[in-house]
Amino acid sequence: MKIVLVGYMGSGKTTVGKLLAKKMNLKFLDLDDYIEVSEEKSISKIFVENGEIYFRKKEFQYLEEVLSNNDNVVLSTGGGTPCYGENMNTILAATKNVFYIKVSIAELVERLSLEKEHRPLIKDINDKEMAEFIGKHMFERSYFYTKAHHTVTVNKNSVEEVVKNISEVLV
Ligand code: S3P
Repeated sequence: MKIVLVGYMGSGKTTVGKLLAKKMNLKFLDLDDYIEVSEEKSISKIFVENGEIYFRKKEFQYLEEVLSNNDNVVLSTGGGTPCYGENMNTILAATKNVFYIKVSIAELVERLSLEKEHRPLIKDINDKEMAEFIGKHMFERSYFYTKAHHTVTVNKNSVEEVVKNISEVLV
């Protein structure tokens, strides 16, 4: 079984994915980690040294690699992964278990203001501008996220609850 989690930065894809994999006895992979190990560089360093276009090319390459080399896996993608090129179609062709982890903009602003340092797209955005940036970005990206087979809305739910909601609808 392949399960893919998509959603905005800070939505908790990695935390949810790890627990889900444990519960389902599947391997867990985080695409950002996979890219960092394969490229031997942090995501931040790739953005600075090679630029975003290079990162997006590599992101697609490793996405395809991970999806074709792993049959029993929970894959957490990066926030931008489904939003470029053929990525979302590639994901949807690989499995019927694609989940959009949806978190409100207000909650994302709160979470991301506290953990933006290692995220190149938002690290220079100040707290005042964060809500507007995320709101606009989500507006563009929702189109891709909502192509997922399921949307799991996360407000104040615990990670356990989110995992339970996902495991109930797996096919
Ligand atoms: C990005 C999200 C990041 C990482 C990169 C770009 C994005 O992943 O892939 O910084 O475009 O939203 P997380 O969603 O794990 O922060």
